[in-house]
Amino acid sequence: MKVLVTGAKGQLASDLVPLLEAAGFTPVPFSSAELDISDRAAVFEAVKRTGPGLIVNPAAYTKVDLAEKEKERAYAVNAEGAENLAAAAAACGCPIVHVSTDFVFDGRSPAPYSEEAGTNPLSVYGASKLSGEKAVAAANEAHVVVRTSWLYGTNGHNFVKTILRLASERESLRVVYDQAGTPTWSADLAAMLAGICKAIESGQKPWGLYHYSNEGVASWYDFAVAICEEAASLGMELKCGQIEPILTSEYPVPAARPAYSVLNKAKIKKTFGASIPHWRRSLSTMLKELKGS
Ligand SMILES: NC(=O)c1ccc[n+]([C@@H]2O[C@H](COP(=O)([O-])OP(=O)(O)OC[C@H]3O[C@@H](n4cnc5c(N)ncnc54)[C@H](OP(=O)(O)O)[C@@H]3O)[C@@H](O)[C@H]2O)c1
Repeated sequence: MKVLVTGAKGQLASDLVPLLEAAGFTPVPFSSAELDISDRAAVFEAVKRTGPGLIVNPAAYTKVDLAEKEKERAYAVNAEGAENLAAAAAACGCPIVHVSTDFVFDGRSPAPYSEEAGTNPLSVYGASKLSGEKAVAAANEAHVVVRTSWLYGTNGHNFVKTILRLASERESLRVVYDQAGTPTWSADLAAMLAGICKAIESGQKPWGLYHYSNEGVASWYDFAVAICEEAASLGMELKCGQIEPILTSEYPVPAARPAYSVLNKAKIKKTFGASIPHWRRSLSTMLKELKGS
């Protein structure tokens, strides 16, 4: 089965494409230069020309802070772009798997967020992604939307790579400790998405919204400490000997983030029989891969 994949040079898509191939699919990747999902005519033309059995949409405007200034662009990609793909898929009877974010929540929950929990995005990025989820569901009944959190991978710009760089340049770092969530390795999410594609290919109709992250909970501070510990244990050279926990208010950024965005993964585990690795184990595996690459 052909699977059209958008945003092919992004960190999630670049892990997904080889996994789809390994699972027996024929991935048809489109980079942002090859297909701008905010261009409705181009999306309909590409979908018609490709004739996919499935579409997976990891493409997104992901510059969370810049989105506060570039609201129109964020909505054009994350809301209208998602709608374009879902509608084009529906027009040729094709299901769509779409990726969304924990930033649809305001972080005031005392417990992990289930799919039924009320949304209240704090940022333009979160609001644009929420509009995208709703647009996908409205445009194509045959949809799976997977919300994820704190994504990092070997191929992208992300927190892990930033911390490794800073820790190799500086003797101390200051990292926020009053935001909790779950780091998620893009390779684990990609494997989950490939599994969902397999389920759809085999005739299941698991339409709806799901939450996926790695297991466990961490603050950005905990995450940074773990990155440095794991990197040091692999013999990576770090200058940094101290990480200081700081408050969000001490590190002002344009977009507000939820203080707590842990996702409840019961539904995805039950529906697809998913076994999810703990974030610390996946971080260790990713760093070994990064060191070897
Ligand atoms: N990163 C995170 O921490 C995180 C957390 C939760 C959820 N998510 C979601 O997970 C998904 C994958 O994220 P990621 O980390 O892999 O993001 P990423 O590395 O930024 O990749 C996104 C890709 O989308 C492409 N893109 C942007 N605008 C486009 C357009 N108009 N048409 C087609 N492609 C376009 C980008 O291309 P250019 O680089 O050329 O613009 C990029 O290759 C996204 O839906 C994101 O919202 C991410």
